[in-house]
Amino acid sequence: MSRNRRGLALLVTVALALAGCTADPEPRRESRSTPTPEATPGVTPGPAGVGDPYFPTAGNSGYDVERYTLKVRYDPTSDELRGDATVRATADTDLPLFHLDLAGLTVRRVTVDGTPARHTREGTELVVTPAAPVRAGTAFTVQVGYDGRPEPLRNETIGEGGWLHTADGAVALGQPESASTWFPVNDHPSDKAAYDFEITVPKGLVVVANGVPKGQRPAAGGFTTWRWSEAAPMASYLSTVVIGKYRTSTGEHRGRPVFSAVAASLPRGAADESVARTVAVADYLESVFGPYPFAAYGGVVVDEPRIRYALETQSRPVYSANFFRGGENTGVVAHELAHQWFGDSVSVARWSDIWLNEGLATYAEWLWAEHQGRDTAQAAFEQRYASSDDQVWRVPPGAPGVANLFSDSVYERGGMTVHALRVTVGDDAFFRLLKTWAADKRNGNATTAEFVATAERVCGQQLDDLFAAWLYGTERPAPPTRR
Ligand code: TRP
Ligand code: ZN
Repeated sequence: MSRNRRGLALLVTVALALAGCTADPEPRRESRSTPTPEATPGVTPGPAGVGDPYFPTAGNSGYDVERYTLKVRYDPTSDELRGDATVRATADTDLPLFHLDLAGLTVRRVTVDGTPARHTREGTELVVTPAAPVRAGTAFTVQVGYDGRPEPLRNETIGEGGWLHTADGAVALGQPESASTWFPVNDHPSDKAAYDFEITVPKGLVVVANGVPKGQRPAAGGFTTWRWSEAAPMASYLSTVVIGKYRTSTGEHRGRPVFSAVAASLPRGAADESVARTVAVADYLESVFGPYPFAAYGGVVVDEPRIRYALETQSRPVYSANFFRGGENTGVVAHELAHQWFGDSVSVARWSDIWLNEGLATYAEWLWAEHQGRDTAQAAFEQRYASSDDQVWRVPPGAPGVANLFSDSVYERGGMTVHALRVTVGDDAFFRLLKTWAADKRNGNATTAEFVATAERVCGQQLDDLFAAWLYGTERPAPPTRR
């Protein structure tokens, strides 16, 4: 499993290097209590971006979305998508105009609270000027009618993401951005919202999205509408839609629906068996991290050569079939399910803190392996501590830069950072911290500085030097010892 993901990380890194991206060197902090660098000066939030230094045009400022209602009709034979998106939001400030992110497609109609609004396109931004400014503190509803052939994002940041037309349908997937290729969205994890999906496809194809399945009904022209609902706040990059020929399996676990799907083109076997372990893995992780955060379980295995990774799409991760070519693989399932707590329920507030997601998900793989009677987490740590290459020690996982967002430093050194913390504070404090962190930040956003503060509070020790070395240092830290 790790081999495949590392393969991807390498590929992404190479692609970014070719695209001429460079790591943002971030200022190191002097402060004793919070070693996290602040946002790079010079990137200020505005209508066209939330102010994420790594992705200046991601998301939009001025409002907060509560719910997306996405009605989409897609015909794989023509690759034509027709969408009707309702975005319920609250204005943070007076809004004479506001932006949504939308890449490609043609906007036909925009209303704000039912009144037609002026709209223009500026690159991947949809700029909406309501008939009258929306006043600070008020809730408003934007409705956007649009259509066209969706195109994946090939942006300067992280390669391909978004809606992909596949052999028998489509897959909408990608990190850090993908949603804006198929609906107008505040496309940054800092603005989480509930989602209702109504996806209409030719009869006979399956549609899988996030959350709780709400059934199907016949639609005009021999189509079927599938409804899905994710009630818990969700970051936009964690939304997914998968359309095509799939073997589905449904059930119930701890009172929650289970819905999984495996591409029908794959032989029945390792992929089905691995995804079927989802609830068992989730139950184990629940014993370590605290209550499973969402109302549904599941997983989707896609057989699409352009998707060579897995993604922790909320309540229902999507896996490349590659993970299961060598037989059952519950390591990748443990990784993506760990993200349900760390990444999905507790989301980054800005992309530079990605190690909070990937370090903890990598560590969950180590814990799961140990729980399965394989290598201990201590052995996994020692192996990587001894053999990681220069790049891992040179790139600080707490400030990796865009080019190294999904590098081995973030994943492997991120996991080693978690283990170094465990060794330093002892198991009792460490496992209390994991549960406290998941509970305190549940359904929210968090930063590294907050993680450090929570760790210091729960463990009753000053830990800034540990995090300074493991997250921000540019050489291999000394091996951890119990304090
Ligand atoms: N976050 C994914 C995981 O850890 C992997 C990943 C890295 C990814 N970069 C991506 C997924 C780009 C989709 C797109 O499981
Ligand atoms: Zn991950």
